[in-house]
Amino acid sequence: MAAHSQGAGPSPAALSLKEILKSENAEAFDDDDEDLDDEFADLQRIQSAKRREARDMANKCRIRELLRIPFAPNIRPLGIYDIDSVVALEHAAFHNPEHQASRKKMEYRLSICPQLSMGIFLTVPPDRVEDTSIFATFDTAHLVETGRPDNAKTVLLAHIVGTASDSDIVTDKAMEVPGNWKGPKRSESDKGHLLDGRTVCLHSLAVSPKLQGCELGKLIMKSFLQHVKNIGYERVALICQEYLIGYYERFGFKNVGKSKVEFAGGGWVDMVFDWATHSAAVTTNTVSS
Ligand SMILES: CC(C)(COP(=O)(O)OP(=O)(O)OC[C@H]1O[C@@H](n2cnc3c(N)ncnc32)[C@H](O)[C@@H]1OP(=O)(O)O)[C@@H](O)C(=O)NCCC(=O)NCCS
Repeated sequence: MAAHSQGAGPSPAALSLKEILKSENAEAFDDDDEDLDDEFADLQRIQSAKRREARDMANKCRIRELLRIPFAPNIRPLGIYDIDSVVALEHAAFHNPEHQASRKKMEYRLSICPQLSMGIFLTVPPDRVEDTSIFATFDTAHLVETGRPDNAKTVLLAHIVGTASDSDIVTDKAMEVPGNWKGPKRSESDKGHLLDGRTVCLHSLAVSPKLQGCELGKLIMKSFLQHVKNIGYERVALICQEYLIGYYERFGFKNVGKSKVEFAGGGWVDMVFDWATHSAAVTTNTVSS
């Protein structure tokens, strides 16, 4: 932009890309306009919006096609009332049994810090769905609370479950369950959820297998990040296998190296989303662009 306004004109590379865009966007292109760089930026925006729209349509159609009922999800924190569906979803989504969080861990997490969990639910009238096995959690779902003549159930499609920690990254201790957490006199423990912790350790992200790839993972992760920021946490940490690093980086998580966690034999990578560095990076990009 600066080079052109000083009379230098767009670079040959920009021009050749412009030629390509021009051939694909004939109607959006004005040959008489002298401000080629502005036009080039506009075309890029158009191309990007078109790509986004096509992807959104594909996802909407796919989930609509799969469900054949209105997709009006309800996103809310989970509670112990949801335990059966959470366990069913965890088992269905994680093929490696070693990677599944146990029922005991889920019971503890949903009882002690339900505010650090989230679920995407959908109201499903059984008679309007051809095959209820498309939902991994249909059998464990509860009838909708308001009661309905069509016996609609509120079905869990995706979940996130976390606890708070005083460490910046996930540790084995954060993943444990303190011995006497159900007792009336809970002793102080450095295991599991720490009330004063400022980091949310995200222990499980799971999407119902037949609904994966429809952006439910993206929806719940974005909602969760916003939610835990709103209630005052400073960062979200998780461990993942190498093949998911790119997936989490898309949300703004940073790969901070090999994790020391030994859960399920180790081999994990530490990922951290920190609002302090994230906001700083966003501010810097905005200022320099
Ligand atoms: C991983 C998981 C949560 C992703 O949820 P999802 O709803 O299937 O993913 P989304 O549809 O939101 O994916 C959105 C984007 O991420 C991409 N993506 C999905 N999986 C990916 C992967 N493994 N690596 C990189 N990108 C990936 C998709 O291609 C899509 O890209 P697009 O926007 O360009 O089309 C889900 O597949 C799942 O439950 N897997 C089993 C349990 C699991 O492994 N959980 C994570 C534990 S750390």
